[in-house]
Amino acid sequence: MNFFEVRDGELWCEDVPLRRIAEEVGTPVYVYSTATLERHYTVFRDAFAPRKVLVAYAVKSNSNLSVLRTLAKLGAGADTVSEGEIRRALAAGVRPDRIVFSGVGKTRRELAFAVEVGVSEINVESEPELDLLSEVAEVLDARPAITFRVNPDVSAGGHAKISTGKSDNKFGVSFSEAERLYAKASADPHLNPIGVSCHIGSQITDLGPMAEAFTKMRGLVERLRASGFNVPRLDLGGGLGAPYFDSPDPPEPSVYAAAVEKVLAGLDVELVFEPGRVISANAGVLLSRVIHVHERPEGRRFLVVDGAMNDLVRPAMYDAFHDIRPVTTPRQGANLAAYDVVGPICETGDTFCRDRELPPLDSGDLVAFMTAGAYGSAMSSEYNTRPLVPEVLVKGDSYAVVRPRPTYEEMLAREPLAPWL
Ligand code: LLP
Repeated sequence: MNFFEVRDGELWCEDVPLRRIAEEVGTPVYVYSTATLERHYTVFRDAFAPRKVLVAYAVKSNSNLSVLRTLAKLGAGADTVSEGEIRRALAAGVRPDRIVFSGVGKTRRELAFAVEVGVSEINVESEPELDLLSEVAEVLDARPAITFRVNPDVSAGGHAKISTGKSDNKFGVSFSEAERLYAKASADPHLNPIGVSCHIGSQITDLGPMAEAFTKMRGLVERLRASGFNVPRLDLGGGLGAPYFDSPDPPEPSVYAAAVEKVLAGLDVELVFEPGRVISANAGVLLSRVIHVHERPEGRRFLVVDGAMNDLVRPAMYDAFHDIRPVTTPRQGANLAAYDVVGPICETGDTFCRDRELPPLDSGDLVAFMTAGAYGSAMSSEYNTRPLVPEVLVKGDSYAVVRPRPTYEEMLAREPLAPWL
């Protein structure tokens, strides 16, 4: 559920009409709903009650500081994949002991930063990384808590570019490697192995592969314990899908939690999750204005909007589907027509969808790309020298610009000319 609703013939975010934001801030613009973020976080956390779990929100899905602070105020942790994301989480008020540091290629500098900050766990993904971390920890005279990210060799469906859990993906170590490395780390005075982790992919709507992976992870915890190692923690990653309306709806967090509990019945272990999309996707829309409708004589009808692939790259990159809703409710009985919805960028890839059935739309009309709160602004760029898309956070009947649109002067001033020019 989310708090983008039609009232009096137009689309609102909580108690603010989207039209007002478009007029006052301009388009394209991302609009996020505080109530939706809060609801998604608490529903996910409470699905595991009475068990206390660390819900480390995946910062990469939407890393806006106000979004992070909204979640941090509810006690959320942060799953981070770079020094920049750790800095964001800290700046938003996430306690270091609730920060998870993941990623396949952490640099020496990033590892040192995480060790100094004292994050809750560093998810080690390979032996070279383990060796590097040991070196870094020795220099800093520290003993960071680590988990091993295991690649459970499970195919989780979804788009190939976001599936991570097969053994031919770049992520994590195999089960046998995990056991060998756990022993190696346990013997290292500068490492403190506290568990194992996995993350098999994103936008997962079928719990089967998850249950399969988690069952294998349980087996690993049991084998490690039987070998005498202390394994207090199991991090099961993120990946639960959000509804995009073009495929079966993903299971509710309560159903997901029940599946986790079934696999883990009787296993005493601290659980960590790294959900991103399920919390942020439905909490945001990309609001865009129609520039014009261009009908080609061959019959295609292009709806050219002012948002583009640099603002929301998911359709171009993963053929992702985003529901497109007119901000003003069409009159009853309006005939639908097929549009190709495109942005102004100079490549054909800048196409949000083809042959989408939409009510009549014209230049100046507003449309909302739904379910755009995750991997939307976070993946935006200035391609075509388009100003980085601004972000607005709504709470009740108020809104704030939480990332302003840069001016052209600011954009150009970031690039000093080479001194010989
Ligand atoms: N943990 C790790 C280690 C991850 O790599 C990811 C996402 C997550 C957690 C959060 O996954 P989520 O709960 O959001 O599914 N840009 C793509 C999605 C990439 C996901 C990358 N990893 C998209 O727009 O669909």
